[in-house]
Amino acid sequence: MLDKLERLPADTILGLAAACRADPNPDKVDLTVGIYMDEQGLCPVFDAVRQAQQALVAEEVSKAYMPPAGDDSFNRGMQRLLLGENSPALSANRVGSVQAPGGCGALRICAEIIRAAAPDAKVWVSDPSWPVHFPLLGSSGLQFEAYRYYDPLGHSVDFDAMVSDLGQAGASDVVLLHGCCHNPCGADLTLDQWGVIAEMAERQGFTPFVDIAYQGLGQGLEEDAAGLRLLVERLPEVIVAASCSKNMGLYRERVGHALFACRDEANAQAIVSQALVAARRIYSMPPAHGALLAGRILGSEALSASWRTELASMCRRINGLRTDLRQKLEQKSGRDFGFIERENGMFSFLGLSTEQALRVREEYSVYMLDSSRINVAGVNARNIDYLVDAVVAVL
Ligand code: LMR
Repeated sequence: MLDKLERLPADTILGLAAACRADPNPDKVDLTVGIYMDEQGLCPVFDAVRQAQQALVAEEVSKAYMPPAGDDSFNRGMQRLLLGENSPALSANRVGSVQAPGGCGALRICAEIIRAAAPDAKVWVSDPSWPVHFPLLGSSGLQFEAYRYYDPLGHSVDFDAMVSDLGQAGASDVVLLHGCCHNPCGADLTLDQWGVIAEMAERQGFTPFVDIAYQGLGQGLEEDAAGLRLLVERLPEVIVAASCSKNMGLYRERVGHALFACRDEANAQAIVSQALVAARRIYSMPPAHGALLAGRILGSEALSASWRTELASMCRRINGLRTDLRQKLEQKSGRDFGFIERENGMFSFLGLSTEQALRVREEYSVYMLDSSRINVAGVNARNIDYLVDAVVAVL
């Protein structure tokens, strides 16, 4: 039976990271996976996470299963982090949510709910988007439609094209939006543009589905959630998949959150019951460790303050790297790279062709995706000049 199966190619992002790890070139630069790396090229553990972990290890008395919906303090903390301390939707008790194994687990739970509610729903996905959206949501049986989003020539959101394509989204369709720090292009909607999407959702009846995996790494925790909050305030139904991989550095702990803003409390409870049945069908209950850490941080004023300060400094560093990269690329190439500074979060396309991206990889061991998506947080004072020289050499 098993010998019929063929070997599959490695995942485009993870496979490239593995190729970089195996590259013996001491000058290699890893700009592949979306992981925050510090000046030393290390992915740090937040101080608040260390403290929460020490307390948890000292106090934990059981490894019995987590409740199916996950840790209460984590879920409450995430609701406030995403929707805001004074969220009217939270005050109206019309929000239901569950802990999930990573942002991916949250996306998959959301997909199961969408499929149960509207089996023929099409999910409108931005072109481009994170490639894993397709297998993750598609394996629940959902169909896709693309909407134009990024204009590679103008290096910005093509909002007219986006609105024109989404004009065709029907009442039982779902529109997947990146909450902030668009992956892969880094170009985000303005608050006014979020408002236009909210009006369209109201008029056409489609449901926004917000994937927010980088809150706090674009402009700040509150700023990055402003578009999502606007949708939740204006619309009866919004679906959200969130992750603590990046903003708490809990990548390997798989800490995610699926949230549903619903018409009323009874409906929110119904959706949570559906999510629990879907989770039982796929993985039964979520893992404990990471969410217990995140729950402790979100529930403690002192740990929260420490985490927010550290996250804000990471955000500033990414934005500083964007400025440095823009300046150095412009100085050496004489071309305009202003878009790097205007974009948000970990990712930007450098605007190279696939051939050019392959050349920097093969000739200089600078690893970016074939699309020329770079992880800006992989740049540091030691590799920036080498990177810029390699890029300018293939332009
Ligand atoms: C990325 O896009 O690099 C990250 O979201 C990590 C991943 O799982 O692909």
